[in-house]
Amino acid sequence: MSKYVIEGGNKLTGEVMVHGAKNSVLPILAATLLTDTSTIHNCPSLSDVDAAFNILSNLGCRIVREDDSVTVETEALSSCTIPEHLMREMRSSIVFLGAVVARCGKAKISMPGGCELGPRPIDLHLSALEKLGVTIEEEHGYLNCTVEDKLRGATISLPFPSVGATENIMLAACTAEGETVIHNPAREPEIVDLANFLQRAGARIHIGENGTIYIQGVQKLHPTEHTVIPDRIAAATYLCCAAITGGEVLLKKVIPQHLTSVFPILEEAGCRIRHTGGGIYLQGPERPRPLRTVRTMPYPGFPTDAQSPMMALSCIASGTSVFVENIFESRYKHAYELTRMGARIHLEGRVAVVEGVSRLHGTRVVCTDLRGGAALCCAALAAQGRSEITKINHIERGYQDFDKNLRSLGAIMEKVRE
Ligand code: UD1
Repeated sequence: MSKYVIEGGNKLTGEVMVHGAKNSVLPILAATLLTDTSTIHNCPSLSDVDAAFNILSNLGCRIVREDDSVTVETEALSSCTIPEHLMREMRSSIVFLGAVVARCGKAKISMPGGCELGPRPIDLHLSALEKLGVTIEEEHGYLNCTVEDKLRGATISLPFPSVGATENIMLAACTAEGETVIHNPAREPEIVDLANFLQRAGARIHIGENGTIYIQGVQKLHPTEHTVIPDRIAAATYLCCAAITGGEVLLKKVIPQHLTSVFPILEEAGCRIRHTGGGIYLQGPERPRPLRTVRTMPYPGFPTDAQSPMMALSCIASGTSVFVENIFESRYKHAYELTRMGARIHLEGRVAVVEGVSRLHGTRVVCTDLRGGAALCCAALAAQGRSEITKINHIERGYQDFDKNLRSLGAIMEKVRE
């Protein structure tokens, strides 16, 4: 296991190229099961992506990677089971369920348990798939899914716009008989990216003005190529890292429209942001100003995944900031670690009140989850002295070359084998 050692205090300056979106590429890799072969460009190198490759290989697919392009050939598919060890490697593997059922007419998948973010229910996924004609039985920790005759289109209204459930429905519905309509679906850019991939592969899928998704089932999807969108959460993280050090950064290969809920919060903190032809330029403040209330919401609201790096920034603000986490109930574990660095954070259920301190101090902290781990690095970059950040395997699930990129901006940071 490796750790990061960060000597805080250097202003980050320079350019960063944002990698392909983890949350796009995972459902798109699942979607490759609906085609005989597909090539995906701008595929990031992440351990979660490796976990998805492991699932595809285990199902019998052939994967060829050349730089950031990946070809998945599914003709030799020989299994429809996702075993427990692969499910444990990545909870969001549940997004393979819709695709496997669509491709094989059945699926056996280990029940995902809880995760770092608390219980991670899949009730919305399962009830939607049942509506499309999947029979689901639970047996010895596995979900046995079968389709009697054919998947059939249905009208599904999601009580909450779950990203994963929306993706699973989309994947199962593309080759179902008849029309599927998803009311109140997730509207994240990654959903649009998945829809674009499916469309390119011949799916008849249309997203209406109000977000409603219409899918007219087709017999089969055909081979295709697709370029994954840039990772808006990695982008937001690098912006927070530059901001907390009072530095200046130019993010390249980024879609500014995907970050419209993040920019106003950074501006409230005193950052100057400009959209240049080449990307997004941010200049951090001498000291961040406090944030009135940051409420995490489904897209286009402020993303829950950017809550923790933004909280790191608010730890050294010149006043008190408030966060309200509306998406995941246990998404404040990083707050305890930030406190070890001198932050003053009070938690009350879904609310976190952060009283800014003039300085954080370096210490040994443990990554609690992917984005929480990135937030600890963000805090360490501004802290006085040396921080050791352990369990960075969490960070490597979602950030490609995190330490290398931060070093290229001037961070004093090393990855050390423990
Ligand atoms: C995806 C993202 C994750 C992001 C989250 C919210 C991927 C791989 N992960 O996760 O980074 O933080 O969206 O933007 O894309 N819920 C239920 N029942 C269900 C499904 C979800 O109650 O069947 C609840 C969850 O517990 C959570 C909320 O709905 O409280 C949102 O979850 P969801 O949108 O499904 O997140 P994921 O798809 O798991």
